[in-house]
Amino acid sequence: MAFILAATGSAVGLGNIWKFPYITGENGGGAFVLVYLVCILLIGIPVMMGEILIGRRGRKNASHSIVDLAEEANASSIWAFMGLAGILASFLILTFYVVVAGWSFSYIFTAGRGAFTDASPEAIESIFNDFLANPMRLIFWSTLVVGATMFTVAGGVKKGLERAVTALMPGMLIILFILVGYAMRTGSFMEGVRFLFAVDFSALSTEGVLIALGHAFFTLSLASGVMITYGSYLPENVSIFKTTLAVAAADTAVALLAGLAIFPIVFANGLEPGAGPGLIFVTLPIAFGQMPFGAFFGTLFFVMLSFAAFTSTISLLEPAVAWTVERFSVTRTRATIITGSILWLLSLGPALSSNKWSHITIFKKSIFDAIDYLTANIMLPLGGLLVALFTAWIMKESVTREELELEQSSVYPMWRFVMRYVAPIAIVIVFLNAIGIITF
Ligand code: TRP
Repeated sequence: MAFILAATGSAVGLGNIWKFPYITGENGGGAFVLVYLVCILLIGIPVMMGEILIGRRGRKNASHSIVDLAEEANASSIWAFMGLAGILASFLILTFYVVVAGWSFSYIFTAGRGAFTDASPEAIESIFNDFLANPMRLIFWSTLVVGATMFTVAGGVKKGLERAVTALMPGMLIILFILVGYAMRTGSFMEGVRFLFAVDFSALSTEGVLIALGHAFFTLSLASGVMITYGSYLPENVSIFKTTLAVAAADTAVALLAGLAIFPIVFANGLEPGAGPGLIFVTLPIAFGQMPFGAFFGTLFFVMLSFAAFTSTISLLEPAVAWTVERFSVTRTRATIITGSILWLLSLGPALSSNKWSHITIFKKSIFDAIDYLTANIMLPLGGLLVALFTAWIMKESVTREELELEQSSVYPMWRFVMRYVAPIAIVIVFLNAIGIITF
């Protein structure tokens, strides 16, 4: 249970409630959602099983588990690079994740003082835009998130966190249901449902397919060493397959509920589904401004979103801290201070990319978007590819079969087939397709 809670706490976060709706909006809706769901089922779940398996077999941190297992299989220790790349990916994700978590924290107070009550959609949009234009306020909130994350990671208050996740998941689901209930009464509910589930492939670009794939990894916290680390704590008698399914189901449910709550509000108020990263910070406040007890529910929602973000920032910082402790033989506190300070400095990039540094672009993207793109759409899929190759081609079949405890089941051959052929080939094709090397 503790494992499921920790893994769900890591998986369910801004990726589900903030990122999933806005990239769905930017990529045309239904076809994107379908590809995303296929990626979760066909690639995300098997890769997650592979990572937990590595951790439980290796019983060490991400990169040392991989080194040991490579040795066991007489393979090159160069595979340790896979662990390092994952640690770097999670650290880079954090640099913008703390900024968005900061938006959420600050909105607890914006909602709490009733700023949304009876406000027009335009007024609510300008509350968000004014916030993004204010470097000091953004830095203040992201600094708070970085500090709180450092404090938790350094002290290892894991018990408290487990309890927080236990309360968080039901609370989050209830408030999402309330929001979906509100969305049903906007008069545009079916339009929202159609946008999410009516499949129209002409609305999906080849790049959109890559974004869906990348998001499957992002939302399940894959390819970053997190699940390997958690897997190393998993007892022998627990089914990796069943726990993976439970985490993936909870994660997907939260994302789809968020979509069902948000898109009807978008259409009912004549907003743009492709409005970008601000989508939930504009749409949901409109709902809170109009529903009874909206200030209360709004405050509660952003408290829970902040908590969900916080359980993820902890899991994103942990790999870098664990690695620094072992690599430089320093105390946990010192490692946290070092990595946290670098993180804070780097987070200024995404924080300032909506104001002072908005003129700086990398490959035509803002600093914020560029880091998001590099990590979610390039580093994570490549990391997932390596996990698939490592567990299905390098590790011995007898070892993975025993560790997954699926001896009698037809799930094992399916898992192995997917990890050997389907996932690697699909990832490579999606990549080559997105950069235009192959076209269909
Ligand atoms: N999965 C989290 C979310 O959806 C984010 C996250 C936490 C993450 N740990 C991760 C993403 C590791 C990639 C890798 O919000």
